[in-house]
Amino acid sequence: MPPPPLPNLSALKVDALLVSALVNVRYLSGFTGSNALLLVTSRGATLYTDPRYELQAPHESRWPVRIIKGPLFRALLGELRRRRIRRLGVEANRITLGLCSQLEPHVRLAAIGPVIEEMRMVKSPEEVEQIRRSVDVNSRAFERALKRFRPSMTESDLAAELEYQMRRLGAEKPAFDTIVAAGAKSALPHAQPGRVPAAPRRSGGSVHSRSASQLLLIDMGALLEGYSSDMTRTLHIGNPEPKARRLYKAVLEAQLAAIEAVRENATASAVDKAARSVLKAHGMDRLFVHSTGHGLGLEIHEPPRIGRREKTRLQAGMVITIEPGAYVEGFGGVRIEDTVLVTEKGCEILTPTSKEFRVL
Ligand code: GLY
Ligand code: MN
Repeated sequence: MPPPPLPNLSALKVDALLVSALVNVRYLSGFTGSNALLLVTSRGATLYTDPRYELQAPHESRWPVRIIKGPLFRALLGELRRRRIRRLGVEANRITLGLCSQLEPHVRLAAIGPVIEEMRMVKSPEEVEQIRRSVDVNSRAFERALKRFRPSMTESDLAAELEYQMRRLGAEKPAFDTIVAAGAKSALPHAQPGRVPAAPRRSGGSVHSRSASQLLLIDMGALLEGYSSDMTRTLHIGNPEPKARRLYKAVLEAQLAAIEAVRENATASAVDKAARSVLKAHGMDRLFVHSTGHGLGLEIHEPPRIGRREKTRLQAGMVITIEPGAYVEGFGGVRIEDTVLVTEKGCEILTPTSKEFRVL
């Protein structure tokens, strides 16, 4: 993947920048290990990591590597002294107070905002391809797991099957904890799969479902070569009652309206409003309790946030989710989520999975 440029130190008014968020270290250097600091100076960057990565780091990093035994910050102090760094930028939203207090006696720290996260918002063509592959694996895993669905499965069984299929298709792991929520539990937007039946029981035995048909919400994402995907589909087990159909129809309409509003230069809040207005027309705006979407890439949630008060203007090359939902306590919830690429003329829906109301 072609390297992104390093942050501009003079614009940040610092002599050097210490990158401590591993995901930002990865973005700038290519290094994927679990312990590293990246020091950016006017001469380039240096990666500090520990001996576990002696073989891996020089292979992955596009910047020179220093293997450090013991705390990384100690080696960094020597470097700061040698290079006469007086003002060191640190990632204010990411660095630990512990590391700051170790550095502070030796150098002036300057709090730097999410500049690297802002660079990451617009994806390179290579990154878009990675996300496309991740989305594809995720959707294929969904189809494979549904083929193996049995009414005897619990929510946890189905989540495990979805994650197993992702890995079989090449994913490193899920991009976040897979959500499988059945019946009334699907009204919790971030429910955890439990050892409760995914399908309703026909006769009285289960306390978790009262009817022989119910909603089933699945929210899943794969992590493939570091890049995330994110998709939610809401299915129905057994014949849906009219209330479930109404919810589904309204959420789908809202999702399509928001997708229609996605284009270069549109504000994130305009996209959010497009979804919210449709739900309002259905009398369901109070049931939509979260924002319409978020950026994704090396992390599952990245800027821009697609929410009510977000002024960010969309740019071609951003990859975002569109995921309105409506949640009814005691009954269940519907969410429909695609991953989309912002283009100059509108957007490309990357998620290939059908949004028909599927009945199992
Ligand atoms: N799909 C998980 C989330 O967006 O929070
Ligand atoms: Mn999402």
